[in-house]
Amino acid sequence: MMTSMSTRPVAETLGPPRHFLDIADVDAATLRRMIDLAAQYRTGTAPEALRSPLVGKTLAMIFEKPSTRTRVSFQVGMQELGGHVVVLSHQDTQLGRGETIPDAARVLSRFVDMLMIRTFAPETLHELADYASVPVINGLTDETHPCQVMADIATFEQHRGPIAGKVIAWSGDGNNVAQSWIEAAPKFGFEMRLACPEGLEPRADIVARARAAGAAVVVGNDPQALVEGADCVITDTWLSMHDTDTDRSNMLLPYQVNRALMARAKPSALFMHCLPAHRNEEVTDEVMDGPQSVVWDEAENRLHAQKAIMVWCMGLLP
Ligand code: CP
Ligand code: NVA
Repeated sequence: MMTSMSTRPVAETLGPPRHFLDIADVDAATLRRMIDLAAQYRTGTAPEALRSPLVGKTLAMIFEKPSTRTRVSFQVGMQELGGHVVVLSHQDTQLGRGETIPDAARVLSRFVDMLMIRTFAPETLHELADYASVPVINGLTDETHPCQVMADIATFEQHRGPIAGKVIAWSGDGNNVAQSWIEAAPKFGFEMRLACPEGLEPRADIVARARAAGAAVVVGNDPQALVEGADCVITDTWLSMHDTDTDRSNMLLPYQVNRALMARAKPSALFMHCLPAHRNEEVTDEVMDGPQSVVWDEAENRLHAQKAIMVWCMGLLP
């Protein structure tokens, strides 16, 4: 797990760890370096020194919600970087029996070099980061999903080149993934449009912060109008893992991404979905399996983007 007993005290004397909590917290130049490194991992052109730089390092992942992509992409990514992974499900650890997050953060920081958490309230993520002496990565909260959106931006650029100046349209619930997209808009210089039913719009403070940082963010209730001329159309599930409603189909069916909605976007528009998808609810089979869909590349890019994020967290990328 550690190369020597000296690893831990060094981490504690290096100053504050580099956390990856939200896109809004990281400066644009750093995010750009991560996306560029992700592309290099994808194409096998990463600098030699960054191919397996995490030999002897361990990542612990805490899951309070289910996961397929996040879990496997972090595990394989860490292995490819030369390191190891420990996976902790909330109910199988003492966290599930009431050990506090600050105590768990201090203990885990003595064993591992980096932490990733998928949780409910963002406060849990921030508390873990406040008490950990090693970097903490946000693997999804009720409010944001920054690793997903880094992979999505890498995917857009893989297919269409620089995202700056492009129009990205979201149709559906203004959820955690949508909110990370909004945070990315001022960092990468694209226009973000969101069509959401009344009551399911993204948080007003997240929209206001992105606008104050210079981004064009448009929020409305008309998917046809907002998708018009877009370079990319994105949606997500009607019910996220933290949602307690049982049915939102009446509210969200008008926001379904189908052939008619895709026809409003540019002919070259991409379709993205973070997955898992509920086929023929938020997106039709025809779009999901159609020529504009890049959802499998998007899933693959989780691996490449998170490798770049972990390398940055460990201080190996400026
Ligand atoms: N997109 C995503 O985060 O998928 P998982 O829930 O499978 O990790
Ligand atoms: N919005 C979804 C994303 C899943 C990866 C959720 O939170 O369940």
